[in-house]
Amino acid sequence: MIQKVKGTYDVLPSETSKWQALERTIRNVSRIYNYREIRTPMFEQTELFHRGVGEETDIVSKETYDFMDRGNRSNTLRPEGTAPVVRSFIENKLYADKNPVQKLYYMGPMFRYERPQKGRYRQFAQFGAEAFGSDSPMLDAEIIGYAVSVLKALKITDVSVNINSIGEEESKANYKEALINYLAPDISSLCSDCQTRYQKNPLRILDCKVDKDSDVLKNAPKPLDYLTEESKAHFVQVIGYLDSMGIDYKIDKNLVRGLDYYTHTVFEVNANLETLGAQNTICGGGRYNNLVSSLGGPKTPGVGFAFGLERLMFALESINFLGDPDYLHLYLMILGDDLKVEGTRILNRCRLGGLFADMDYLDKSMKAKFKQAEILNARFVAIYGEEEHQAKMINVKDQESGQEVKVPLDQLYNYIVAELMKPAHSCSSCSEDSCDSCGSDECDCDSEEGTCNCGGK
Ligand code: HAM
Repeated sequence: MIQKVKGTYDVLPSETSKWQALERTIRNVSRIYNYREIRTPMFEQTELFHRGVGEETDIVSKETYDFMDRGNRSNTLRPEGTAPVVRSFIENKLYADKNPVQKLYYMGPMFRYERPQKGRYRQFAQFGAEAFGSDSPMLDAEIIGYAVSVLKALKITDVSVNINSIGEEESKANYKEALINYLAPDISSLCSDCQTRYQKNPLRILDCKVDKDSDVLKNAPKPLDYLTEESKAHFVQVIGYLDSMGIDYKIDKNLVRGLDYYTHTVFEVNANLETLGAQNTICGGGRYNNLVSSLGGPKTPGVGFAFGLERLMFALESINFLGDPDYLHLYLMILGDDLKVEGTRILNRCRLGGLFADMDYLDKSMKAKFKQAEILNARFVAIYGEEEHQAKMINVKDQESGQEVKVPLDQLYNYIVAELMKPAHSCSSCSEDSCDSCGSDECDCDSEEGTCNCGGK
């Protein structure tokens, strides 16, 4: 049997409604913040990621899926969304658009050759956002507020927002020099990864998981202490705007992030979920004021974030998020081969009118058909047999109330729509399960009148 590739997963139909609900919420919040969707290809020229994300980052040096196409060009499955969106922004001259601040979002699969574990896959999905054209700290704060609003809309509350600034190029260069000098005498005491990072990407030593509690790292200089006045002012303002929006955050002086393009603000959102273990970062982002120009565009600042959707899904599952239930409006049972042509016409009419409808295809017993209707969570079951055919009527059962009626065949659709449109039980005296006045769960109230047979109003 051929199995799925390591580090990938299937989303089965029983799970897709949760994903659709998650995606819908994301799109709604994106609309509120006025971010518009952009869709870029799943693969790009390899060079884009080398120049965009950085040659020495783990993502580019160890994790990309590269392939030569039949024209001998090197392509790469996108490991992240920022560089492709920037490429598209430049190529399509979005910087010249009537709206000078372009706010974009995307959702889709990314590919990284990482060691798979819970919350870490080789094909995973991101929801990301990028805002171009302003270096205002208000936009840094907005992007963090947007990420937090997505979590709020999903009712994921047990999270922490960690924020830091690494400053612009001058601050970064000053800090890098200080860090290299500080670490020089002790570098051999750090883990082998840190020793490689020391040569290639020293900032990454700061968030090493292995050595994080060592005195060497605890006492290391921090980026915040090397910010130029301008970078410091930017960070102070970002914090001020976050405060004004009532957003909780923690300043994490060790936060540097693993991609080279960041300047100024960097941030991550962690879910406080034991099940995710070390993979509890559900969102990461920051400002990147030089990426557009380094990829050949005009000097344009940018700021953005990306959520890992599988990790968001784990967080949702921990709060028993169920997604939309599967259900049908109508399940049709056709009793007899001679009636199948007419039965199919009836079902088709209901579907053309927009009802969620299905039928029995297996010619099983009535009991099995009703079982199937129950499994499919059908509100109405319609039975079409010889007797109904002769009388040009159809038997309809409301699975919710148990009520059965005979309806003229050509009125089936109208009848079901009318029933579905009826307001939910609204008698002030009766609760859904039992009547407040008489306590009966069979109290037959007249909801239109607002009166209840038991005497309550
Ligand atoms: P990133 O931190 O590499 O940033 O990824 C963002 C999020 O994607 C992570 O916090 C995590 O939730 C999820 N993620 C990353 N790798 C995996 C994986 N192998 N399996 C499952 N989830 C994963 C970026 O990608 C930047 N482009 C974010 C950004 C946008 N910065 C500015 N704009």
